[in-house]
Amino acid sequence: MKHDVLDGVFSPKSIAVIGASNTKGKIGYTVVDNLIQSNYQGPVYPINPKDAEIQGFKAYPSILDVPGEIDAAVVVIPAKFVPQVAKECGEKGVKGLLVIASGFSEVGYIDLELQVVEIAQQYGMRVLGPNIVGVLSNSDNCNASFAPGLPLPGKAALGSQSGALLIAMDTASYTRRVGFDKMVSIGNMSDVNFGDMIDWLDQDKNTTCISFYIEGLQDGQNFIRAARSAQKPIIALKAGTSAHGAAAAASHTGSLAGSGKIYTSAFEQAGVVPAADLNNLFDRTQALSLQPPMKGKNLLVITNGGGVGVLATDAAERSGLPLHFAPADLQAGLKKHMPSFGSAKNPVDMTGMAGKEWYQDSVQFALAHDWVDGLAVLYCETAMTAPLEIAKGIKAAIEAVGAHQKPVAVSFVGGKDSQTAMRWLVEAGIPAYDAPDTAVDALAALHEYAESKKTSAAKFEPFVDVHEATAREIIAQVRAEGRTGMTEIESKNIFKAYGLPVADTRLATSEEEAVQLAENIGYPIVMKIMSPDILHKSDAGGVKVNVNGETAVREAYRTILANAKEYKAEADIRGIVVQEMAPWATEVILGSINDPTFGPTLMFGLGGIFVEILKDVTFRVAPVSPEQSIKMLDDIKGAPILKGARGEEPRDRVALSEVLSRYSQMIVDLGDEVNESDANPVLVYAEGEGVIVVDARVILKEA
Ligand code: ACO
Repeated sequence: MKHDVLDGVFSPKSIAVIGASNTKGKIGYTVVDNLIQSNYQGPVYPINPKDAEIQGFKAYPSILDVPGEIDAAVVVIPAKFVPQVAKECGEKGVKGLLVIASGFSEVGYIDLELQVVEIAQQYGMRVLGPNIVGVLSNSDNCNASFAPGLPLPGKAALGSQSGALLIAMDTASYTRRVGFDKMVSIGNMSDVNFGDMIDWLDQDKNTTCISFYIEGLQDGQNFIRAARSAQKPIIALKAGTSAHGAAAAASHTGSLAGSGKIYTSAFEQAGVVPAADLNNLFDRTQALSLQPPMKGKNLLVITNGGGVGVLATDAAERSGLPLHFAPADLQAGLKKHMPSFGSAKNPVDMTGMAGKEWYQDSVQFALAHDWVDGLAVLYCETAMTAPLEIAKGIKAAIEAVGAHQKPVAVSFVGGKDSQTAMRWLVEAGIPAYDAPDTAVDALAALHEYAESKKTSAAKFEPFVDVHEATAREIIAQVRAEGRTGMTEIESKNIFKAYGLPVADTRLATSEEEAVQLAENIGYPIVMKIMSPDILHKSDAGGVKVNVNGETAVREAYRTILANAKEYKAEADIRGIVVQEMAPWATEVILGSINDPTFGPTLMFGLGGIFVEILKDVTFRVAPVSPEQSIKMLDDIKGAPILKGARGEEPRDRVALSEVLSRYSQMIVDLGDEVNESDANPVLVYAEGEGVIVVDARVILKEA
């Protein structure tokens, strides 16, 4: 039902243009002209209060005067008049309002925009925009926009938050040889958003790949949900990756999170392939729209020249698909299609003598071989061979083994004939690029897609042995005291309620009690000041480690109290924490923030200088399963330290991944209350020996 309404936005069968005009140079003129030029087959109803005929169509003073049904109304009148016509559209039963008009939330008129959305909701209409270029669809012969013309026909769909960029990509699709069936300008996203686009396009038979230019998502969780369940590849270029709120953040996590990092993680979690820049968006879109995913890591490169082979080898390593020598039987088979001085290792160099037949036979043999997961076919134009013939040989080979079994990307380096051959290849469904490294990156994208689809499919199974109610009781007590900062013990008790292994930590309110607790826990111990007013305990001289024996406990108790009073005379001192002294192990840090786009978000990194100086951390939108959190451990540059580098014993990565997963559940469950939190340090012992949270901090949202 919901999709039927969105049909009116993305694939309308009848269109009214409100603000249609006979005056050249007006957007209302261009939209009608574009519908004519694109050979739109459905009825077009220009709406204009003055003219009875517009560009050959009968015009109507109001949409309510139109006799037939209307799927989409393209709105090209000044913003202030839009609510009134939206109401009339609702009364008329229009499904989609495509609001080209600018002058809404993008310039501060938020209420005007909300008014239009509210009216639309009353009538069950969907709103695209406002502040858009429009919708272009090759399969519908529909250019309901003021972009110059329909894009190069193809199988991709583009959604763009920038109208200008959409127009640029529309025209560039011809020079870049990237075909699109649909281009949708999404504008201010007052209603229809990227998640809606994914849901609709995933059901659309005319597209095979969804490509996005994103500046900012409003509902990150909905985007992740839609992308995760999509059956088609999604590729996204995220623009504007500067850090937000970093300076104001009270925790490590807040200061380390830039929106770019969290978007990167969210894309990976959702199975979305990232694009590094606009060129990369085009190139990767071409590959993902034409080729199947690359399921394994074995990339074979076939060339007629050493140079392009070396460039491809370098690119393969950069892209995370380093080349390996082909197995002996594959080499032997390939050797038949080259002179004795050729090389069948990988890259396979058939030498400059390679013509159509050698290419065809080698490609066919390689694609049929089990070892090969993806194939880059490179060619340098020579006077001995005709590029178009080589292209035909490649296509014939792919067809012989069955198109869409394994991905192939091609690069012809040469002049006009190579360009013609590559255009022919793309029309035949084979991605072709000017540079060998771009062809390799295209295959890397197909591999990234296959890999991220595997991890994004893993479901989070909540832990059942958690005590959310206990955590909420602790929070309620803190709230009752009008605080947002929790003490170490309160924070640790929350962690404990989620089954997180925290160091045995108790509160002493007298010297006597401190001695008693220390003796129960066992020496040596750590003693720390507990005061909601002293967050940085070490700076206040409020921490003593390795305290061994009764006399030492008494001395430490007095010194810590004196230091704290000197540091902040008016501090509310609740006592002194007595804590077991965990033996040294690899230090890591866990943290959480409430990201404005994605909600509760988890951070992981190695502790100490790794986090302070190198900022070697990784993020995930919570929750994450233990399987997904193992991937987090692998993400950081210091990953080998946990795996046991330079003779060190491997660390307990399994226990750590469970801790991350439980922690992620904690921050989701308590997401309405907790603003940020961290566990720092967390000590990770050798394999099988577990993990211990030494210090923890929870900061609540402002009431
Ligand atoms: N119903 C029907 N027609 C109406 C109504 C109405 N209620 N009110 C006015 N009209 C007619 C007008 O009479 C006029 O027709 P005419 O040419 O026969 O006189 C026509 O609608 C257009 O109205 P104008 O007042 O002339 O408005 P104009 O065309 O100057 O501007 C527009 C309207 C294009 C919507 C403008 O306000 C605007 O928002 N421009 C920016 C759009 C834009 O750039 N969007 C994309 C952003 S992305 C990017 O930057 C590429």
